[in-house]
Amino acid sequence: MKINGARARIVLNAKAAPTIEVELNVSGHWARASVPAGTSAGKHEVKPWPPADNIDLAVSKAKRILENEVFPEILQGDWEPREVDEFLEQLDGTPDFRKIGGNTALAVSIAAMKAFSWDAGIPWYQAVANAYGFKSGPVKPLENFIGGGAHGGHTDIQEFLVAVKGTNMAEMVHTLSWAYRQTKELLKRADPHFVGALTLESAFVTELGTEDILNILSAIRTGLEELGYEVVLGVDVAAAELWDGKRYVWKSEGVERTTEEQLQYIRELATEHKLGYIEDPFHDDDFESFKRLQASVDAVVVGDDLFVTDEHRLQEGIGGALIKYNQRGTLLRTVRTVKRARELGMTVTVSHRSGETDDPFLAHFAVGVGADFAKIGAAGIRTVKLNELIRISEELER
Ligand code: PGA
Ligand code: ZN
Repeated sequence: MKINGARARIVLNAKAAPTIEVELNVSGHWARASVPAGTSAGKHEVKPWPPADNIDLAVSKAKRILENEVFPEILQGDWEPREVDEFLEQLDGTPDFRKIGGNTALAVSIAAMKAFSWDAGIPWYQAVANAYGFKSGPVKPLENFIGGGAHGGHTDIQEFLVAVKGTNMAEMVHTLSWAYRQTKELLKRADPHFVGALTLESAFVTELGTEDILNILSAIRTGLEELGYEVVLGVDVAAAELWDGKRYVWKSEGVERTTEEQLQYIRELATEHKLGYIEDPFHDDDFESFKRLQASVDAVVVGDDLFVTDEHRLQEGIGGALIKYNQRGTLLRTVRTVKRARELGMTVTVSHRSGETDDPFLAHFAVGVGADFAKIGAAGIRTVKLNELIRISEELER
């Protein structure tokens, strides 16, 4: 494809922080993409922005790099999405995008995939599948219903998650929206201090403890089962946020746990509440504890801050990989990690960030690579992507 125009602007993410939006013109059509930010970001993620004293300066610098170093190059010649990504990686020249920033690169990478899709006259998810050799297919939305930790709120566990099994994405999205609204009703009854507050990802904030929350979600599970659905309950412990270098400090619960005690506790929670999904139960370098837990529970144990979407960090013996493209900086690097995860027999969960944007592309990416789950929240700005799953669902059902 020939790129005839390129421009960048600074827009806002869901945390009211600046981020980059890129537009590329192909055959008279402007393909637009913007990039998210994390809050409980893993320490091994690529650098999101070029070095600067604060986020405003960093994003302004990213815009200048795009205008002065990236756009003049990509306005020449003929490009495949993969070649755009290779050029971005070469231009930066470091493994962790410390010069130009992973988000600077990713905005171009996604816009190029959308431009390619326009040129080929196919939907974005199909363009992802064609460009990188995946079989696209329906994903199961995995939604954050109750939360806290670094996302704001009382609970030590960052996210309490719910999914239903099925193949019709529109039906799964609507079913979960009912369950999310039901959860609010149950919280109103159980928590005298409940005021309807939400975390950064629009999960409900409650003063109830872990046990009480999981009991509420078990009631939700029963309700869904009565409707004929098989339910997956999960947690994202985001344990790197609890780890003080020696112990896991559960502030709200007023408990400190050694690694051994943490393993024991998570195992008990998993058994007692029949959890099907456990993300980041240990800090981001403790591969061994992830493996020990995986060997002793039915749930899939998933690495987010542990793997940071880096194909070289994936290890056998851990059941699932979380995939966040801005942990790596380009779609090319991200799809390599998805492929490696599949080689290792892992469950693949494509995930949003707490600082999301109004770009629906993540829904297409999840479907395009044929992921198992799409972790994209339940309400607020998250509905941009859920509604896109509903639209894609119609195309897949055709
Ligand atoms: P984030 O975390 O705040 O870094 O996006 C979400 C998660 O841990 O899954
Ligand atoms: Zn996580």
